[in-house]
Amino acid sequence: MSNRRSFLHSSLLGSLGIFLTKKAGAVTRGPGDRASHIRGIGEVPGRVPGHPVVISTWDTGLAANKGAWEVLSRNGSALDAVEAGVKVTESSVNCCVGLGANPDRDGYVTLDASIMDHQFNCGSVAFLERIKHPISVARRVMEKTPHVLLVGVGAQQFAIAEGFPLEDGKLSEDAKKSYEQWLKKSEYKPVINIENTKSSAFGAAPSNDWGAAAPARLPNGKWNHDTIGMVAMDASGNLSGSVTTSGMGFKMRGRVGDSPIIGAGMFVDNEVGAVAATGQGEDVIRMCGSHAVVEFMRQGMSPEQACKAAVERIARIKKEKARDIQVAFIALNKKGEHGAYALQKGFSYALKNNNEERMVEVNSLI
Ligand code: GLY
Repeated sequence: MSNRRSFLHSSLLGSLGIFLTKKAGAVTRGPGDRASHIRGIGEVPGRVPGHPVVISTWDTGLAANKGAWEVLSRNGSALDAVEAGVKVTESSVNCCVGLGANPDRDGYVTLDASIMDHQFNCGSVAFLERIKHPISVARRVMEKTPHVLLVGVGAQQFAIAEGFPLEDGKLSEDAKKSYEQWLKKSEYKPVINIENTKSSAFGAAPSNDWGAAAPARLPNGKWNHDTIGMVAMDASGNLSGSVTTSGMGFKMRGRVGDSPIIGAGMFVDNEVGAVAATGQGEDVIRMCGSHAVVEFMRQGMSPEQACKAAVERIARIKKEKARDIQVAFIALNKKGEHGAYALQKGFSYALKNNNEERMVEVNSLI
């Protein structure tokens, strides 16, 4: 490494280190907090009857929350709500989730999804093609098989056997345009969900593990939000979570992200809270992100503090490369308190409860 390169490298590492040290100090807890949150299995503190709430990632979450609210407001279960909610997003044409999303680098849309209820029941699908509602297939995996995860052709066969129609597999207009644009260079350099810099706009995103970047915006100017994650608490105080995604645009065929990996892209522990992740899945998988956030909440952290602690851990693992990715977590605890934290600026989540329906801007580490 040349002197200049080595200087730049160590300066970057140094500034990120200083930055993390400073930010890490922001999480404060009283000495009694940890003890007061350690409870036995079966004890369910902080039950909030009559107080349903749903949160979901990105601005597409507003419409998804409405779908969930139709269930929650009729005293339906959190599980039914999180399925109905993200189905709204899966149905929207030209969105970045579901069959309208960007394809992989071979031109096929492949979908991942997971769902989890308040009793550790969970199901997921990965690398699923030509099925409109992967979240509902994930639920069938949970309810009708002894398994947690089905992938690829097997997941598709299961879906067809369960009565899900096989769609035609054509790309949406937006996805076709994006793919044609990407094919001009065909660089294998996917990146997702960084919105804080001009450099992440279409055609000029920053470098990441693979080098430079694929478009973070679609040609129509929409952001490449590849994932919707949703967590909800129903009127009985039970929690559930769901995530559905097309993953990174122009990814390697067969690539699966964090979303269908229980404990990475989403996790629910009804004694503590429910968490969902968005952003670069590989980095969420590496540290079992959503499970880590639940455990931080169990130790007494608020939802935002817990999400922040997980983001800080990812930043420590990634070192200087943390600047080149985006990850974010949303969390809901057993009291119905919600919060989130992102690695980079620009992330927000949608909130709906009896009193409010709005986007919530989220603090970030960088
Ligand atoms: N977070 C979605 C993915 O990485 O596939």
